[in-house]
Amino acid sequence: MQSQKSNKMWGGRFEDGSDMLMQAINASIGFDQKMAEQDIAGSQVHAEMLRAQGILTAQDEEAIQSGLRQILEELRAGKFEFQVELEDIHMNVEARLKDLIGEPAGRLHTARSRNDQVANDFRLWVRDHYDLSIDAITALMRTLLDQAKQGVDWVMPGFTHLQTAQPVTWGHHMMAYVEMLGRDLSRMKDGRERMNECALGAAALAGTSFPIDRERTAKALGFDAPCANSLDAVSDRDFALDFLNAASICAMHLSRLSEEIVIWSSAQFRFVKLSDRFSTGSSIMPQKKNPDAAELIRAKIGRIMGANVALMTVMKGLALTYSKDMQEDKEQVFDAAESLLLSLAAMTGMMADLKALPENLQAAAGSGFSTATDIADWLVREKGMAFRDAHHVTGAIVALAERQGKELHQLDIKDMQALCPDINDNIYSVLSVENSVASRTSYGGTAPVQVRAQIARWEEKLKE
Ligand code: ARG
Repeated sequence: MQSQKSNKMWGGRFEDGSDMLMQAINASIGFDQKMAEQDIAGSQVHAEMLRAQGILTAQDEEAIQSGLRQILEELRAGKFEFQVELEDIHMNVEARLKDLIGEPAGRLHTARSRNDQVANDFRLWVRDHYDLSIDAITALMRTLLDQAKQGVDWVMPGFTHLQTAQPVTWGHHMMAYVEMLGRDLSRMKDGRERMNECALGAAALAGTSFPIDRERTAKALGFDAPCANSLDAVSDRDFALDFLNAASICAMHLSRLSEEIVIWSSAQFRFVKLSDRFSTGSSIMPQKKNPDAAELIRAKIGRIMGANVALMTVMKGLALTYSKDMQEDKEQVFDAAESLLLSLAAMTGMMADLKALPENLQAAAGSGFSTATDIADWLVREKGMAFRDAHHVTGAIVALAERQGKELHQLDIKDMQALCPDINDNIYSVLSVENSVASRTSYGGTAPVQVRAQIARWEEKLKE
């Protein structure tokens, strides 16, 4: 089946219209309409530059600007009619401009191609989402800092292999995520800085014979400079890959925190209580309160990382410069960016509401022989034992506790002395989780004095 006549935007050399299937596979308007505002911003700046360079008359430029303004209003009011025959956002806007102002609309595309236009629109869209991500990550970091401050000395078990390892503090645990998100923030800022060059003016691929001013366009759109190679400008999508890469790592961090919340909020752990606002019930089991938000955030890495792999796969092996393959660059980037922002916002809300339960944390902190390392350290420090020997003796003490069904601080001194005559009553001082935690004052350690210093450092840093 064929659709109408040859294409009114590029159909000069065509006699027949496109097959419906051609239209279906070719059109991007279903998704690239998300870049409508970026497309108009690019056109406004391009037209202004063309007039400043004497390529467009003032009269034509005014007509174009007023038409573009009206289109923007139509878009914002939801009144703009997207047409699939017009393929993409660029031709939809231009066709509407023609309806509105007639002949001058056709002059807007002077010294421009859809190749540099789409690269520019997409860059602007990705840049906006770098900025939104930077804000969203910062907001989550602030929330985690609040959590850390509140529970800077609440002891809890620290885990390796999800087995109780050594006592740590809630504040320390929260601050671990602040560090991760701090790196995400720096990756986002770094990617944004690297991408901030303007593709407009590269035209189809080779530049243009018109006396354009690329510096001017770049500056007007908030870019640091024009892209220096026109071939690269129209065919580069690194900026989106950088974003997806940073987004994937950030989503991975969110996924890990989500997993902990799922575990911590279970009836078996009861380390934290989720608010009603960020949990759901079960339609069959009335007692249930499910951590759905955490589970969904835990899963979002799938689509975000998927987008990263998808775009890398689209781009690999593409000869310079533009190929239509590159139209497949957008949908997943849009989805990944929106998924990341939603995850960050939901995580921020959930963590702001989340109540840690200090008594339960404390009770768990002391179980599982979590202060065994402190015994070994005590034997080294107080008795001059080699750490390996101390480790061995402590292992025997743990086995004893296990046999007697006791925690370490409940052991009888005589039983311990039977295993190691050097041991005296002072050992009890290191068996409490509070002392264990307070003793780990090495830089970056779990002692509240260290954690407070890290909180202060990040609070200062986030003020910038
Ligand atoms: N819709 C196209 C895209 O998203 C715009 C660029 C089209 N360029 C071309 N030479 N056909 O990539």
